[in-house]
Amino acid sequence: MVLANGPFEALIVRGDDAQVRAFANTCRHRGAQLCSDESADGCQDSAIVCPVHGWRWQLDGRLDAIPRRAAMMRTVDHGDLVALPCAVRHGFVWVAWSDAAPDLTDFLGPADRVLGGWQLEQWAQISDTSIAVDANWKTSVDMHNEAYHLDHLHPELAPLVDPADVVFDPLGPHHRIRFSIEPAGEKTWDVTQVTIFPNVSITRHPTRAMIVRHRPQARDVGQVLFDEWSLAADAGGHPPLQRRFFNAAEALGPSGESGAMARADLLATMQLGRGVANAAGADERRLLLHNEETPIAHFHEVLDDYLYGRSR
Ligand code: FES
Ligand SMILES: [Fe+2]
Repeated sequence: MVLANGPFEALIVRGDDAQVRAFANTCRHRGAQLCSDESADGCQDSAIVCPVHGWRWQLDGRLDAIPRRAAMMRTVDHGDLVALPCAVRHGFVWVAWSDAAPDLTDFLGPADRVLGGWQLEQWAQISDTSIAVDANWKTSVDMHNEAYHLDHLHPELAPLVDPADVVFDPLGPHHRIRFSIEPAGEKTWDVTQVTIFPNVSITRHPTRAMIVRHRPQARDVGQVLFDEWSLAADAGGHPPLQRRFFNAAEALGPSGESGAMARADLLATMQLGRGVANAAGADERRLLLHNEETPIAHFHEVLDDYLYGRSR
């Protein structure tokens, strides 16, 4: 599969030895993109072949064949694909964009133990949707990082959840929020959401989990790809997984198949995005955070640490 995140693009491959590896999705010859579609269907099962001149690599990244190799002027001593740090843990493939990234255990810190206790690798993925949204990726993260909007935007949830009862725990750069939902006539659901800095949140109900990922787009800071996956604790009996993609208009329309709640969040994300991008009055403007928006403050403090250093 291909994973694109802002200007970074990785090709993620399971080798014949069953090991999962990640490579920069760029040819070592003249830099062509190796696989263009997310499912990497264009790539062969047993090898990675560049679409331009046909250089070929084994699934472990070793350069295997160069057309007309004998006629080349120079020997090729650095033709293997560029490997990226990659690990499989908690049911996810984790890829870092450079060797300078911290070790995964150090990066996850206390979140490692929380995710380990969930054993999501044993759950079944039952939906896989992406929506192209007109907003900066941080606006999309913020929209999914607070419960303050529930009363106004999701009045149907108001009797079930009290935003004031949401418990916030920082987990190093990541964080966790916990709350309860009390559906009429049903047992209380304990809901926990872990946000892995900077752009992934995993929300776990007793029998369902929802994962959202906010992917910046390389060519437009005002665009984010909002990925949403659902998981079910019971592994069997689900229809085959279908990858679906919507633009914002489709997702907001009647055929978008999003529920009213998701539509309200999507619309609000775009309204926030447009308002924040509005240059009029920007010099005077100060954003204010309510006490129920502590996760947003935490996210932006960590982000500023990364961008400007801890002693800024
Ligand atoms: S650019 Fe890939 S083989 Fe030439
Ligand atoms: Fe919402």
